[in-house]
Amino acid sequence: MTQDELKALVGQAALQYVVPGEIVGVGTGSTVNKFIEALATLKDRIAGAVSSSDASTARLQALGIRVFDANAVGELSVYIDGADEIDGQGCMIKGGGAALTREKIVAAQSRRFVCIADESKRVAVLGRFPLPVEVIPMAEARITRQFAALGGTARLRLKDGAPLVTDNGQHILDVTGLSLEDPTAFESMVNQWPGVVTVGVFAHQKAAVCLLGTDQGVRTLSF
Ligand code: 5RP
Repeated sequence: MTQDELKALVGQAALQYVVPGEIVGVGTGSTVNKFIEALATLKDRIAGAVSSSDASTARLQALGIRVFDANAVGELSVYIDGADEIDGQGCMIKGGGAALTREKIVAAQSRRFVCIADESKRVAVLGRFPLPVEVIPMAEARITRQFAALGGTARLRLKDGAPLVTDNGQHILDVTGLSLEDPTAFESMVNQWPGVVTVGVFAHQKAAVCLLGTDQGVRTLSF
Protein backbone atom coordinates (compact mmCIF):
# COMPACT_ATOMS: atom_id res chain seq x y z
CA MET A 1 0.00 0.00 0.00
CA THR A 2 1.17 3.54 -0.64
CA GLN A 3 1.61 5.97 2.26
CA ASP A 4 -1.46 7.81 1.01
CA GLU A 5 -3.52 4.60 1.11
CA LEU A 6 -2.30 3.89 4.65
CA LYS A 7 -3.38 7.39 5.69
CA ALA A 8 -6.82 6.84 4.18
CA LEU A 9 -7.08 3.50 6.00
CA VAL A 10 -6.44 4.99 9.44
CA GLY A 11 -8.53 8.08 8.66
CA GLN A 12 -11.49 5.78 8.02
CA ALA A 13 -10.71 3.58 11.06
CA ALA A 14 -10.80 6.62 13.36
CA LEU A 15 -14.54 6.99 12.76
CA GLN A 16 -15.15 4.26 15.33
CA TYR A 17 -13.91 6.66 18.05
CA VAL A 18 -16.29 9.48 17.09
CA VAL A 19 -19.14 9.70 19.58
CA PRO A 20 -22.56 10.21 17.93
CA GLY A 21 -24.22 13.49 18.82
CA GLU A 22 -21.02 15.01 20.19
CA ILE A 23 -18.37 17.51 19.09
CA VAL A 24 -15.11 15.93 17.96
CA GLY A 25 -11.64 17.48 18.23
CA VAL A 26 -9.92 17.54 14.83
CA GLY A 27 -6.19 17.86 14.21
CA THR A 28 -4.21 18.99 11.17
CA GLY A 29 -2.24 17.39 8.36
CA SER A 30 -2.51 15.03 5.41
CA THR A 31 -3.63 12.06 7.54
CA VAL A 32 -6.27 14.17 9.26
CA ASN A 33 -7.45 15.35 5.85
CA LYS A 34 -8.36 11.72 5.14
CA PHE A 35 -10.18 11.57 8.46
CA ILE A 36 -12.09 14.77 7.64
CA GLU A 37 -13.22 13.24 4.33
CA ALA A 38 -14.44 10.17 6.20
CA LEU A 39 -16.05 12.31 8.91
CA ALA A 40 -18.15 14.06 6.27
CA THR A 41 -20.06 10.80 5.80
CA LEU A 42 -21.19 11.10 9.46
CA LYS A 43 -21.83 14.84 9.45
CA ASP A 44 -25.54 14.50 10.21
CA ARG A 45 -24.76 12.29 13.22
CA ILE A 46 -22.29 14.60 15.01
CA ALA A 47 -22.80 18.05 16.53
CA GLY A 48 -19.65 19.38 14.87
CA ALA A 49 -15.94 19.84 15.49
CA VAL A 50 -13.36 21.94 17.30
CA SER A 51 -10.51 22.49 14.87
CA SER A 52 -6.77 22.86 15.47
CA SER A 53 -5.97 25.07 12.47
CA ASP A 54 -7.36 27.45 9.92
CA ALA A 55 -6.61 24.83 7.26
CA SER A 56 -8.66 22.10 8.97
CA THR A 57 -11.44 24.60 9.71
CA ALA A 58 -11.69 25.44 6.02
CA ARG A 59 -11.85 21.75 5.06
CA LEU A 60 -14.44 20.92 7.70
CA GLN A 61 -16.66 23.84 6.73
CA ALA A 62 -16.33 23.08 3.03
CA LEU A 63 -17.74 19.62 3.75
CA GLY A 64 -20.63 21.04 5.77
CA ILE A 65 -19.30 20.23 9.25
CA ARG A 66 -19.97 22.94 11.83
CA VAL A 67 -16.85 24.25 13.58
CA PHE A 68 -17.15 25.48 17.17
CA ASP A 69 -14.87 27.94 18.99
CA ALA A 70 -12.93 26.00 21.66
CA ASN A 71 -14.11 28.53 24.26
CA ALA A 72 -17.76 27.92 23.43
CA VAL A 73 -17.71 24.22 24.36
CA GLY A 74 -16.60 22.10 27.30
CA GLU A 75 -14.46 18.99 27.45
CA LEU A 76 -14.44 16.83 24.32
CA SER A 77 -14.56 13.03 24.41
CA VAL A 78 -12.00 12.56 21.71
CA TYR A 79 -9.32 14.37 19.74
CA ILE A 80 -8.13 12.80 16.50
CA ASP A 81 -4.83 13.90 15.00
CA GLY A 82 -1.74 12.67 13.21
CA ALA A 83 1.89 12.75 14.36
CA ASP A 84 5.35 13.16 12.92
CA GLU A 85 6.72 10.53 15.31
CA ILE A 86 5.19 8.33 18.01
CA ASP A 87 7.13 6.20 20.50
CA GLY A 88 6.23 3.06 22.44
CA GLN A 89 4.58 5.06 25.24
CA GLY A 90 2.33 7.15 22.97
CA CYS A 91 4.53 10.26 23.27
CA MET A 92 4.77 12.16 19.99
CA ILE A 93 6.57 14.82 18.02
CA LYS A 94 4.05 17.04 16.25
CA GLY A 95 4.06 20.34 14.40
CA GLY A 96 5.26 19.36 10.93
CA GLY A 97 2.23 21.28 9.71
CA ALA A 98 2.97 24.25 12.04
CA ALA A 99 -0.29 23.75 13.96
CA LEU A 100 1.25 22.42 17.19
CA THR A 101 -0.03 25.12 19.54
CA ARG A 102 -3.69 24.76 18.67
CA GLU A 103 -3.24 20.99 18.44
CA LYS A 104 -1.99 20.92 22.02
CA ILE A 105 -4.83 23.18 23.13
CA VAL A 106 -7.52 20.93 21.62
CA ALA A 107 -5.75 17.80 22.87
CA ALA A 108 -5.73 19.26 26.40
CA GLN A 109 -9.45 19.92 26.11
CA SER A 110 -10.11 16.28 25.16
CA ARG A 111 -10.35 13.18 27.32
CA ARG A 112 -8.71 10.90 24.79
CA PHE A 113 -6.12 11.52 22.07
CA VAL A 114 -6.46 9.08 19.18
CA CYS A 115 -3.39 9.28 16.97
CA ILE A 116 -3.69 8.22 13.34
CA ALA A 117 -0.44 7.48 11.55
CA ASP A 118 1.20 5.27 8.99
CA GLU A 119 3.86 2.92 10.33
CA SER A 120 6.75 5.11 9.15
CA LYS A 121 5.92 7.37 12.14
CA ARG A 122 6.59 4.70 14.78
CA VAL A 123 10.02 5.15 16.45
CA ALA A 124 11.85 3.74 19.45
CA VAL A 125 13.12 7.15 20.62
CA LEU A 126 11.73 10.54 19.54
CA GLY A 127 14.09 12.96 17.83
CA ARG A 128 14.85 11.86 14.29
CA PHE A 129 12.16 14.19 12.96
CA PRO A 130 13.23 17.84 13.43
CA LEU A 131 11.42 19.06 16.54
CA PRO A 132 9.07 21.99 15.80
CA VAL A 133 8.97 24.75 18.41
CA GLU A 134 6.64 27.73 18.04
CA VAL A 135 8.40 30.84 19.33
CA ILE A 136 7.87 34.55 19.69
CA PRO A 137 10.22 36.11 17.08
CA MET A 138 11.97 38.37 19.62
CA ALA A 139 13.27 35.28 21.45
CA GLU A 140 14.45 33.26 18.42
CA ALA A 141 18.20 33.88 18.74
CA ARG A 142 18.29 33.13 22.46
CA ILE A 143 16.21 29.97 22.11
CA THR A 144 18.48 28.85 19.25
CA ARG A 145 21.47 29.22 21.64
CA GLN A 146 19.63 27.30 24.36
CA PHE A 147 19.09 24.37 21.97
CA ALA A 148 22.74 24.58 20.85
CA ALA A 149 23.80 24.15 24.48
CA LEU A 150 21.85 20.84 24.44
CA GLY A 151 23.55 19.71 21.21
CA GLY A 152 20.64 20.71 18.97
CA THR A 153 20.61 22.85 15.84
CA ALA A 154 17.57 25.12 15.48
CA ARG A 155 16.61 26.49 12.08
CA LEU A 156 13.92 29.05 11.38
CA ARG A 157 11.18 27.50 9.22
CA LEU A 158 10.72 29.37 5.96
CA LYS A 159 7.86 29.51 3.49
CA ASP A 160 8.43 31.01 0.03
CA GLY A 161 11.75 32.44 1.25
CA ALA A 162 10.31 34.29 4.27
CA PRO A 163 9.77 33.12 7.87
CA LEU A 164 6.65 30.98 8.10
CA VAL A 165 3.99 32.73 10.17
CA THR A 166 1.71 30.42 12.17
CA ASP A 167 -2.04 30.81 12.66
CA ASN A 168 -1.05 32.55 15.93
CA GLY A 169 1.25 35.07 14.20
CA GLN A 170 4.48 33.49 15.49
CA HIS A 171 7.48 31.63 14.02
CA ILE A 172 8.64 28.00 14.05
CA LEU A 173 12.13 26.71 14.85
CA ASP A 174 12.88 23.16 13.66
CA VAL A 175 15.48 21.53 15.89
CA THR A 176 17.70 18.64 14.79
CA GLY A 177 20.31 16.65 16.70
CA LEU A 178 18.18 15.88 19.76
CA SER A 179 17.40 12.45 21.19
CA LEU A 180 14.43 12.64 23.53
CA GLU A 181 15.02 9.79 25.97
CA ASP A 182 12.72 11.43 28.53
CA PRO A 183 10.09 13.32 26.50
CA THR A 184 8.04 14.40 29.52
CA ALA A 185 11.00 16.05 31.26
CA PHE A 186 12.16 17.61 28.00
CA GLU A 187 8.71 19.05 27.27
CA SER A 188 8.49 20.52 30.78
CA MET A 189 11.96 22.06 30.50
CA VAL A 190 11.50 23.73 27.10
CA ASN A 191 8.03 24.95 28.07
CA GLN A 192 9.73 27.06 30.75
CA TRP A 193 11.98 28.96 28.35
CA PRO A 194 10.74 32.53 27.90
CA GLY A 195 9.52 33.09 24.34
CA VAL A 196 8.57 29.47 23.72
CA VAL A 197 4.89 29.35 22.81
CA THR A 198 4.71 25.58 22.39
CA VAL A 199 7.24 22.79 22.05
CA GLY A 200 6.17 20.04 19.64
CA VAL A 201 6.72 17.23 22.16
CA PHE A 202 3.36 15.77 23.15
CA ALA A 203 4.20 13.79 26.28
CA HIS A 204 1.87 15.54 28.75
CA GLN A 205 -0.84 15.29 26.06
CA LYS A 206 0.24 11.91 24.72
CA ALA A 207 -1.90 9.52 22.70
CA ALA A 208 -4.18 7.07 24.49
CA VAL A 209 -4.56 5.05 21.31
CA CYS A 210 -2.67 4.94 18.03
CA LEU A 211 -4.25 3.55 14.88
CA LEU A 212 -1.18 2.57 12.90
CA GLY A 213 -1.57 1.92 9.19
CA THR A 214 0.46 -1.11 8.06
CA ASP A 215 0.47 -3.31 4.95
CA GLN A 216 -1.31 -5.90 7.08
CA GLY A 217 -4.08 -3.46 8.01
CA VAL A 218 -4.72 -1.16 10.98
CA ARG A 219 -2.84 -2.02 14.19
CA THR A 220 -4.38 -0.56 17.34
CA LEU A 221 -1.82 0.40 19.97
CA SER A 222 -3.10 1.36 23.44
CA PHE A 223 -0.97 3.26 25.92
C1 5RP B 1 0.62 19.27 12.08
C2 5RP B 1 0.94 17.97 12.71
C3 5RP B 1 0.61 16.74 11.95
O1 5RP B 1 -0.21 15.94 12.74
C4 5RP B 1 1.88 16.01 11.61
O2 5RP B 1 2.75 16.90 10.94
C5 5RP B 1 1.58 14.79 10.73
O3 5RP B 1 1.15 15.24 9.49
P1 5RP B 1 0.82 14.24 8.31
O4 5RP B 1 -0.42 13.52 8.68
O5 5RP B 1 0.65 15.16 7.11
O6 5RP B 1 1.99 13.31 8.12
O7 5RP B 1 1.45 17.89 13.79
O8 5RP B 1 1.09 20.36 12.83
